[in-house]
Amino acid sequence: MCGIVGYIGHREAYPIVIKGLQRLEYRGYDSAGVMIYDGEDVKVCKTKGKVVDLEAKAAIEMKTGGTIGIGHTRWATHGVPNDVNSHPHVSNSGDLVIIHNGIIENYAPLKEELIKRGYVFHSDTDTEVLVNLIEEIQKNENQKLGKAVQIALNQVVGAYAIAVFDKKNPTEIVAARLGSPLAIGIGEGEYFIASDASPFIEYTSNAVYLEDGEMANIRLHKKIKVRKIQDDSLVDPYIQELQMNLEQIEKGGYDHFMLKEIYEQPSVIKDTYRGRLHANEGIIQMSGIEDNLEKFLNADRIIIVACGTSWHAGLVAEYIFEEFARIPVEVEYASEFRYRNPIINSRDVVIAISQSGETADTMAAIKLAKENGAFVFGVCNVVGSSISRESHAGAYTHAGPEIGVASTKAFTTQITVLTMIALRLAKAKGTMSLSDFHMYLQELELIPEKVKEALETNDRAKEIAATFKDAPNCLYLGRGYNFPVALEGALKLKEISYIHAEGYPAAEMKHGPIALIDEHMPVVVIAPKQGHYDKIVSNIQEIKSRSGRIIAIVTKGDTQVRDLADYVIEIPETSDALSPLITTIPLQLLSYHIAVLRECNVDQPRNLAKSVTVE
Ligand code: AGP
Ligand code: GLU
Repeated sequence: MCGIVGYIGHREAYPIVIKGLQRLEYRGYDSAGVMIYDGEDVKVCKTKGKVVDLEAKAAIEMKTGGTIGIGHTRWATHGVPNDVNSHPHVSNSGDLVIIHNGIIENYAPLKEELIKRGYVFHSDTDTEVLVNLIEEIQKNENQKLGKAVQIALNQVVGAYAIAVFDKKNPTEIVAARLGSPLAIGIGEGEYFIASDASPFIEYTSNAVYLEDGEMANIRLHKKIKVRKIQDDSLVDPYIQELQMNLEQIEKGGYDHFMLKEIYEQPSVIKDTYRGRLHANEGIIQMSGIEDNLEKFLNADRIIIVACGTSWHAGLVAEYIFEEFARIPVEVEYASEFRYRNPIINSRDVVIAISQSGETADTMAAIKLAKENGAFVFGVCNVVGSSISRESHAGAYTHAGPEIGVASTKAFTTQITVLTMIALRLAKAKGTMSLSDFHMYLQELELIPEKVKEALETNDRAKEIAATFKDAPNCLYLGRGYNFPVALEGALKLKEISYIHAEGYPAAEMKHGPIALIDEHMPVVVIAPKQGHYDKIVSNIQEIKSRSGRIIAIVTKGDTQVRDLADYVIEIPETSDALSPLITTIPLQLLSYHIAVLRECNVDQPRNLAKSVTVE
């Protein structure tokens, strides 16, 4: 999710923490906060907005002297971005202070129990529950901070990188991680904690990267103690000598944010279904859907409004919703929908898909839908964004900040959310057999591993990119669920490499576009084993017979297409309906490498903005 920074040592903590948060700004965030311990008490300042806003507020509100401090940049998952929900969060006694990146899935039952025990909550966050759980354990079981944190984390389900401070014992910071990154910088008589090494790289190049399921007691003038959260067993920490420079650290060692975000897809798809998909129990639990189930079940139709890549995700959703839940779906470009005087009524459900949650056309489309009485459901990646606030209900993707202008992890996490909605509606309507329902839940749970396997085609994609980097045009073909993926693959190529590319339904070629085929036209064909395999083979043969050059995305072990295509990229098998989550991966990698070879500005392509907040 976002960023954490901590310092304990001999220097003034505030400037180190603030500059550290600024170093983490590239990760995108909606609010920021800092705690400084001045030797007697904890002082906390936090605000919605940027680090610069935090600095301005702290200059007025707090004395910043002190040699221990922690700071946080928030990417909200529970509770809209505002001052109260910003971190650090303080326990009821005022003794414990926490900062947290990640998601506590089971925060609700934990909160309920703590309220019964007299705890009061001031924010809507899952994090405030964790700090009071630690307090409750400390008090009840008379535990020191480290042990209380360890016991608490064994009751928590979710993802976290945390730093916790106890003013009753102000010589240590306890850190822990599961699913979110956490690095500890080791200096001379001082320690640094951060989401990556960028906040402390100028002070020390010695770092310990906690592994998932590990925690550390960081005490002044003592060696850090690293333990396994699960059984409290000691771990011998591996101290790395960092060679990376600042820019490399920001991109997690990748050359571009886009590539980093392509590789984040296994983990963010898991984050997106975390707490919502319970494959073993055969349950999909999404509060935004449960609370409005009747509206979906009684809808005359679902209208999806979106732009760009989000529109492509909507097209995938059309196929999935109609196949699974037998609900009529129409997918509209928001920019067209808002002006064409469409027929909308109160029995329509409008799903607005938007990574940024700020796209002007999509915003206008949902306002029009609401004026005509439709129920609007938002699928956004930014908590508290305009579109999420304008919608009657919604479900967030948990992709984390997407910095690269070209959407990648937003696309796959949007499809993940939409697939879960379609499955939930199919279950409620009885339009899918229980065995199929369970099969899809199990298969969806396996997708992160299969995406990880698909990412192993990176070298193959890079090799093929070298052949086609100077092509003036390119065609992308797909059928069924993979027709929208063809459109998305073409968009990726055009927007970052500036090569003209078009996506088509493969069967549409004979209605005109096949006239484009000759030995100069590269054709990317998405041809997984499932779906309309025999038909797509025929389409490939049509292209081959006209000297077209074929790059085929095939299921691992395929021989038929492999013998026909000029270039093949093999991906793991999955069900037809879930295949877009896998087939899009090599297309992302192919467009990325072509753009790099053409020395284009991959993360900020010419003429483009990450969020189109104007018409
Ligand atoms: C996709 O790679 C582009 N960045 C663009 O098409 C984007 O998907 C579109 O502008 C919609 O943005 P949104 O999802 O934030 O609404
Ligand atoms: N889930 C926590 C919140 O919403 C932390 C989010 C983050 O990683 O910044 O406050």
